[in-house]
Amino acid sequence: MSKAFDFIVLENIDSTNSYLKRKIKAGEIAADTAVLAKSQTNGRGRLQRNWEAEKGKSLTVSIALKCPPNPSLTLLCALGVFEALDDILGDKNLRIKWPNDLVHKGKKLCGILCERASDFTVIGIGINANNRIFPEEIKEKATSLTLLTGREYDIESLSKSVCEKVVNTLEKHRFALDENARDKYKSLCINLGKEVHFGSPLKKGIAEDISPLGELVVATESGYENVSFGDVFVSGIY
Ligand code: BTN
Repeated sequence: MSKAFDFIVLENIDSTNSYLKRKIKAGEIAADTAVLAKSQTNGRGRLQRNWEAEKGKSLTVSIALKCPPNPSLTLLCALGVFEALDDILGDKNLRIKWPNDLVHKGKKLCGILCERASDFTVIGIGINANNRIFPEEIKEKATSLTLLTGREYDIESLSKSVCEKVVNTLEKHRFALDENARDKYKSLCINLGKEVHFGSPLKKGIAEDISPLGELVVATESGYENVSFGDVFVSGIY
């Protein structure tokens, strides 16, 4: 990482994001701190979902950065994780599902949860690293680095390299989805050009673009809609 980073390793915690948010609120954390947990008891995903991680197999890390709030930050984080995983996989099948899932041949490899806590952003990253077996309900939808490469990964060094790529990407683009970042994101985004379903009640349309704010621009029967949150379903992808 270009900045000096504190890297904390915890045996067990409810959630690395929750841990950093508590520490930030208590004024006990310096900016640029990363926390890796060997296991989480209450891992959290986007949209109030749980995030299941397997001890010693899944990578669960969070980074606390002092930066202005920006809704497109989460897309930049996906670009940073992409860089790290692309170094490992090096094939054309690694893509981003809007807003920030990393997918390989339609199966989820990584999820990212960005949250604000006072003047910090906490970036939580969950990667299926050494997992070989997934619970029944996600086994058709998930994949892991080990399943894709046949290799085992050192979770701590992988976490450090992922955090480094994420922070470097954020700094390179000055914490905003500039034109270069947006073009790169668009070249990797698996939603674009596909029929997507979104919203409640469910609407459908063709995902056509990523707005400068990081929204998914969908052409529907009744005009363009800029989707900024929630689930977007793409057929053939989990
Ligand atoms: C998602 O795909 O819904 C986002 C998943 C984010 C999971 C990571 S694991 C590390 C950090 N701690 C959490 O509780 N969540 C994030």
